Amino acid sequence: MQSFIKDFSTLIGQAVTIQGWAYNVRSSGSIAFLQMRDGSGFTQAVVVKSNVDEVSWAVASSATIESSMIVTGMVTKHPKQEGVYELQATQVELIQRAEEYPIGKKEHGPDFLFDNRDLYLRSKTPWAVLRIRDRVYFSIEQFFHEQGFIRFDTPIIQPTSCEDTTQLFTVNYYDTPGYLSQSGQLYGEAGIMSFGKVYDFGPVFRAEKSKTRHHLSELWMMDAEMAFFDQAMNMDLQEKMIKRIVKDLLGQCVEELKILERDTTILQRLVHEPFVRLTHAEAKKILKEENLITKETFDDTYWQDDMSTEEEIALGNKFQLPVFVQDYPAEIKSFYMKRFTDKDGVVRARCADLIAPEEGREIIGGSQREEDYELLKKEIIDRHYPLQQYEWYLNTRKYGSVMHSGFGLGLERTVRWLCGVHHVRETIPFPRLLNRMEP
Ligand code: 4AD
Ligand code: MG
Repeated sequence: MQSFIKDFSTLIGQAVTIQGWAYNVRSSGSIAFLQMRDGSGFTQAVVVKSNVDEVSWAVASSATIESSMIVTGMVTKHPKQEGVYELQATQVELIQRAEEYPIGKKEHGPDFLFDNRDLYLRSKTPWAVLRIRDRVYFSIEQFFHEQGFIRFDTPIIQPTSCEDTTQLFTVNYYDTPGYLSQSGQLYGEAGIMSFGKVYDFGPVFRAEKSKTRHHLSELWMMDAEMAFFDQAMNMDLQEKMIKRIVKDLLGQCVEELKILERDTTILQRLVHEPFVRLTHAEAKKILKEENLITKETFDDTYWQDDMSTEEEIALGNKFQLPVFVQDYPAEIKSFYMKRFTDKDGVVRARCADLIAPEEGREIIGGSQREEDYELLKKEIIDRHYPLQQYEWYLNTRKYGSVMHSGFGLGLERTVRWLCGVHHVRETIPFPRLLNRMEP
């Protein structure tokens, strides 16, 4: 019967058989060490020539990296390392002898690793990161169901844009132009009129020609939408969700975090502490007055502008906790956000971006939505969007309009932050970037 490396702590002293791959091999004279991985974990099989038959010894002593094999033996505790287990082999059977493996002999740059992503996936870092991705996904699904949401899938091919129109990928849809979804939000807003609270989870696309370590062309977004929620309730829910994700991560992904050598001090702290909440104006003021950014001139553009990468990173560094930045100038935000005029006469959106600390940047964008039919229609017209194609969306404001809010979480940005990896390309199995569509 097949056993799994992840269960070794419960199998000490027992004879087991694992099936997997030798990610590293070493042999000298009468002993061979097979670094084995089986999908569930990593272990070392110790093969002593005098303890195994001739065929087993031949396989073990001449194995190539990434050869697939079946190893039988007894599980033992590592003589020196606490919580580490080994397999004292009694039999080694070859499934397939791998050709010379291109990864691992020397240090490789990211281009090489991502040109060979199909193989690079087998390495420890991707193993840990992508398992954390799966855990985050699962925590979100659980959280929303506990909170009374249903999963409401939204279309990938859409006739209109949800966010900035410069970021659209166009598709030829039976000779009519269509667009790849930037976010399922507008459909979620229709969904809550039937179900109250919905979320979707799927791939979305951003065509901006951005080459930073925070941008993917194809990413996975979770959009949540809630009827009868104002912006304060919206942020409370987001905070609760992030705390839940991090708590699960710390409890369930110990091995993965260890592989990534992730310092979890801040993650542990944020589970119990309230997140920071600042307005856009307050955040800009702090950045300026405390000299947290390199900027020297602070004109109107500074006060009216979006938060730059540098500014977001500086806020995260200052507070060492997630920071909600609220009330951005409406002009730089999306058409559907509810507006208000502040005491200085600036028209602002009832919105918040959630900035993750440790250079995590913006992981969530959310807002209260404009529920008034006339105001929303006017905004669509003012932005020169094709009104006719938004008519179905405006129906949500025509037939029983209610106060509502929602948010979108970028899965890869979130996972990048949680794992502490440098580039967002590490956090999705096969990244799509400005300069990469393969493999
Ligand atoms: O802030 P965004 O653009 O918000 C929306 O699309 C809303 N319609 C969501 C909603 O309210 N339902 O995107 C949401 C999140 C960002 O905070 C970021 O984490 C991620 O999606 N994101 C990206 N991640 C990687 N690469 C990109 N190019 C991204 N663009 C957005
Ligand atoms: Mg945003």
